[in-house]
Amino acid sequence: MCGIVGVNGLNNATSVLVNGLKKLEYRGYDSAGIYVNEQNGKDHLVKAQGKIINLENKITDDVQGSVGIGHTRWATHGIPSVENAHPHFSQDDRFYLVHNGVIENYLELRETYLKGVHFESETDTEVVVQLVDKFSNNGLSTPDAFRKTISLLKNSSYAFILMDREQPDVLYVAKNKSPLLIGLGSDFNVVCSDALAMLDVTDSFLELHDKEVVTVTKNDVKIENENGEKITRKPFKVNIDPAAADKGAYPYYMLKEIDEQPAVMRRIQGKYLDNNEPKFDAKLIKQLTYATKLYIVGAGTSYHAGLVGKKLFEKLAKTPTEVVVASEFAYDDPIIEDGAMFIFLSQSGETADSRQVLVRATNEWKVPTLTITNVDNSTLAREADNAVTLEAGPEIAVASTKAYTAQIAVEVLLATAVGRIKDIAAAKEIDLNEQFSQTANAMQVVVDEKDQIQKIAEDNLAKTRNAFYIGRGLDYNVALETSLKLKEISYIQAEGFAAGELKHGTIALIEKGTPVIGIITQAATADNSRSNLQEVLSRGANVINIVREGLAKDGDQIIIPSVDEIMMPLVSVVVGQLMAYYATLLRGYNVDQPRNLAKSVTVE
Ligand code: F6R
Repeated sequence: MCGIVGVNGLNNATSVLVNGLKKLEYRGYDSAGIYVNEQNGKDHLVKAQGKIINLENKITDDVQGSVGIGHTRWATHGIPSVENAHPHFSQDDRFYLVHNGVIENYLELRETYLKGVHFESETDTEVVVQLVDKFSNNGLSTPDAFRKTISLLKNSSYAFILMDREQPDVLYVAKNKSPLLIGLGSDFNVVCSDALAMLDVTDSFLELHDKEVVTVTKNDVKIENENGEKITRKPFKVNIDPAAADKGAYPYYMLKEIDEQPAVMRRIQGKYLDNNEPKFDAKLIKQLTYATKLYIVGAGTSYHAGLVGKKLFEKLAKTPTEVVVASEFAYDDPIIEDGAMFIFLSQSGETADSRQVLVRATNEWKVPTLTITNVDNSTLAREADNAVTLEAGPEIAVASTKAYTAQIAVEVLLATAVGRIKDIAAAKEIDLNEQFSQTANAMQVVVDEKDQIQKIAEDNLAKTRNAFYIGRGLDYNVALETSLKLKEISYIQAEGFAAGELKHGTIALIEKGTPVIGIITQAATADNSRSNLQEVLSRGANVINIVREGLAKDGDQIIIPSVDEIMMPLVSVVVGQLMAYYATLLRGYNVDQPRNLAKSVTVE
């Protein structure tokens, strides 16, 4: 989703801004822009529709300065166009603003305060910069005009950087719900919506809290809360190797991230297993053990990892568990009983839908919370009572792969930790070290069999209009995830289905040649799934079976190594990830940046 960068005090502001925006490209966007000020009366605004390369092509040598702001926009209000791209500016050209988030009451504000003002764009954002201008023309100082404007924003999410041409050495910054960080340097400071954007210039960052207003000069960062009180806060270090976010020799990040999964399993094993015992914060395990009901909250792929988590917590820890779609649950009226605990799964740690549930869990239901995320210090990590990091390394491709498997791996360890305390046989019996090593090896076997999977994708998915993934139990959960992978990047209409449910309606869609991918890794339901596959075969479907060793039969196309059945999603999903990858390549689309999608979804 939208990316924000700001620089104060670096002579090469233009290139720092553009490089920062490039680092945020993976999040998804459809236009980009920068504003830089030379502080000698000269300034430059450059905006372009489409990729950052279009912006770079418009930046001439004279676009220089030491203070500036930049933005990648993912359209919400108004089509992708140069006019709608940020930075936006006031009608008298005095104020420039970049914004992530959504101003819910922008029409009302425009109607109430800005009659007769000339608007250049169709965006909600422009209302904000015009309001600052209006209040400043009415005699308020820039910070007061900024504050007054913010106080009028209702139910809105925002991360702003504002510049005033009459004070070009200051960046005014504020946030609510949308992520924003200040990066600290010596004789310069930067602002960014994701630390990755500025890791080339600093690894020291300050987090900001909602409703704070921050004044950033090259030598100072002044944070004030909603009531204007000064806040002091210690910076934190971000320990990401900038090289970990490079794709190296890989054609796409997605392929790199699929291939990294065996290593991620070993990393998780190294960090969270000690002498075959799960190793987590004692307070967290105590809270999880006391919980009489768990809610797992997620969106998209993280929700799918939650579905697997439910089975893990119920089997290994015998804790009743409900999995909920964040955007729905946020506005539901659930009955939350004493003893409930909430687990938030989020790769980015910034998903607005999940955060909305976290806010209710904390303020309204007052239950203990845990965030499992790939991004240290992300909003959901900071705001939950507990946070566990996935250790998957930066995930750049929009389609989530290694974060999904890392989420399941961490769930296995947490559920086992709780189950062992509760003396549950399944938790006591599982040899975690052995299972993690075997799973990493099994994943490696799958990623080494790319040619076979590529061929199957070529024969079955290159030209198809639709596809189905079916399975039962954990295999059904993986069917949901693998179908999401296929549809989001290849644009093939794909559905994941409970194998036994197909005949209750959806089987009507099966025609001659429809690809149906059957996932069979669970002994108890293997025969039933095979019967369901037979039903679609009889109706002309092209059936492709992904089966674990030990359950395989003649004619099965993809045989995957066997590990404990509860770990099988970690192996079978890799086949589906690779199928989606190759189908997308064959259809000629950009694997890493599918249309309409964003990596970190910071609007509800
Ligand atoms: C799909 C995908 C999305 C995310 C979803 C939640 O490949 O990546 O479905 O899983 O937007 O994002 P996080 O996990 O960051 O909360």
